Amino acid sequence: MIAIAVLGHGTVGSGVLEVFNKNHASIIEKAGEEMEIKYILDRREFPDLPYHDKFVKDFEVILNDPDVRVVVEVMGGLDPAFDFVLRSLKAGKNVVTSNKELVAVHGAELLAAAHETNVNFLFEASVGGGIPILRPLSQCLSANRIVEIAGILNGTTNFILTKMFREGVAFEDALALAQKLGYAERNPAADVEGDDACRKVCILASLAYGRHVYPQNVHTEGITHISAEDVHYAEAWGGVIKLIGRVKKLDDGRLFAMVSPAFISRESQLATVDDVFNGIMVRGDAIGDVVFYGRGAGKLPTASAVVADVIDAVKHLAARKYIDWEPAKDGYVCDYLEVPASMFVRVTARSRTEALRSVRGLLGNVTELVCPGVENEAAFITPMLPEGEIVRALQALRALDYPILSTIRVLDY
Ligand SMILES: NC(=O)c1ccc[n+]([C@@H]2O[C@H](COP(=O)([O-])OP(=O)(O)OC[C@H]3O[C@@H](n4cnc5c(N)ncnc54)[C@H](OP(=O)(O)O)[C@@H]3O)[C@@H](O)[C@H]2O)c1
Repeated sequence: MIAIAVLGHGTVGSGVLEVFNKNHASIIEKAGEEMEIKYILDRREFPDLPYHDKFVKDFEVILNDPDVRVVVEVMGGLDPAFDFVLRSLKAGKNVVTSNKELVAVHGAELLAAAHETNVNFLFEASVGGGIPILRPLSQCLSANRIVEIAGILNGTTNFILTKMFREGVAFEDALALAQKLGYAERNPAADVEGDDACRKVCILASLAYGRHVYPQNVHTEGITHISAEDVHYAEAWGGVIKLIGRVKKLDDGRLFAMVSPAFISRESQLATVDDVFNGIMVRGDAIGDVVFYGRGAGKLPTASAVVADVIDAVKHLAARKYIDWEPAKDGYVCDYLEVPASMFVRVTARSRTEALRSVRGLLGNVTELVCPGVENEAAFITPMLPEGEIVRALQALRALDYPILSTIRVLDY
């Protein structure tokens, strides 16, 4: 009998118990081993649950029980999750987690610890919730050179942007609705500032290219500044605005990684990924584009990925599943200002013609955008230029008394 301990009985943890109990017979059959959830660690008491006797408050009980072969970390955050996970791995226990922050910040170190004690450290649920993406990326697509990955990786922000587009709702109202429906936390900063998507980009990039990409090296912008006018211009241009996380290997071996809102054409495969859904496009040199689509969060979809990892860990107790990446040296992720970008820009201007004359003097052949009903401003899309050059030109434009109202990258997916 393999004993499992679940750390955290919140949204995902309670879902893990539900899926494990509901599909127990088939899960055991697939794992090929008898399994039981022996302990659940949480701060709170749950006296009314049928499995209330499994709750413990002291992690040492779990760590010191040799029957526990798999620890499921679904508490979230870094402290104490990192300490508990590292000590579990060092004690020779397999670990499954849905904690993207933990993997994005400490993945290389935890994988090395798993390597040392020959145990599995699996985290399929940390990107895309229930959508299978990490396994396909590391196994099914392993014959490819991964050219690029781009995705809508955060359901909360996608829900907000979808509401802004479909119903003309302002950002604040769409956020309030997302909170009311339980899609956004009371403190939504990690979602709306792009940090959650950034952590997922780090995990995808580390897995696809073999070296750890740390969150502080990924330029990250959220959606808090997206206005109704930006939405109107995107529609007039023939597209939508999505929060896109992306990573690409450059010819010199460095990576480019970024999270930012972006104009994408209505024809793009990612443009129709709406509401709380996630969509992740992987571009391989042999397979071309593959898109993974589904619910990127939620109790049961996420628990489904966590329990699948538990099954996989139990099936590979003797021969560890081979997922690894190495720490990266400084400079592995390039400065985004070096990389060519095309930018949608709005500036305040009494005369649109004069403003665009100045803009063309600084940025060359820009494409003007006109939005019915919007006055006292000029809007345009820059040609592809190293982003640093665009930034310098916009500084010069500011100095000519054309205040910048917004800048949003234009992507070609
Ligand atoms: N929710 C999703 O749809 C989803 C999807 C994909 C990935 N994830 C990731 O999965 C993880 C868990 O998310 P969640 O939504 O399930 O969070 P949650 O609902 O807040 O659950 C976390 C649980 O762990 C408990 N806990 C936290 N620290 C603890 C500690 N030191 N000792 C004992 N118990 C502790 C919490 O207790 P208190 O309530 O008392 O703090 C809570 O019951 C996070 O890393 C999240 O990013 C979540």
